[in-house]
Amino acid sequence: MKRIVILISGRGSNMQALLEAKLPCQIAAVISNRADAQGLEIAKAHGIATAVIPHKDYADRISFDAALAAEIDRHAPDVVVLAGFMRILGDGFVERYRGKLINIHPSLLPAYPGIATHERALQDGVKIHGCTVHFVTPTLDHGPIIIQAAVPVMREDTPQTLAARVLREEHRVYPQAIRWLCLNQVWLDGTCRVASNRLEQPGSSLVSPGLE
Ligand code: GRF
Repeated sequence: MKRIVILISGRGSNMQALLEAKLPCQIAAVISNRADAQGLEIAKAHGIATAVIPHKDYADRISFDAALAAEIDRHAPDVVVLAGFMRILGDGFVERYRGKLINIHPSLLPAYPGIATHERALQDGVKIHGCTVHFVTPTLDHGPIIIQAAVPVMREDTPQTLAARVLREEHRVYPQAIRWLCLNQVWLDGTCRVASNRLEQPGSSLVSPGLE
């Protein structure tokens, strides 16, 4: 059974979705860069080992990344899952976990990498928004995509209502992506593309606003 380590910085709702999904893997530890991350308490309540590596204790990114990697490696994970982890990781760190490092981002990448995704989507007036689970590569929020979920943007939406609609989908697609990885049904191939033995399912399209 594969071992996974989850990295968080805050609320931890995606981490909680993973803990509650009964994944075919062992969740070896949850690590935060902030001691006050709410998700740490949720992890402890699930009996998961936790650790804090405070980024503020390190002079630069390289030394923080090294300390974080040392803590991660103690748990010998097969997959390292970023779940609302709010530090940018250096190229050396990303290379060390090539093919094993996964992130969820609250937009339909490659649209809206970075922060404030929901605000920017509303400003642009897009009609469809969503979330993306992807392998992490050195370019921020640009790695090979495993799964995406799309939601309609409603006229009355605020960044908060749109974020909530996207977050519901995050909690569905992240456990699915990690399940595929744990079962070797999805992997990163030698050309840095996502390979999968999953059948793609034709489904209905999302048209927003709806057709008459
Ligand atoms: C999520 O929207 C995730 O996509 C983004 O940060 C947020 C984390 O939320 N990377 P939570 O800590 O999982 O509740």
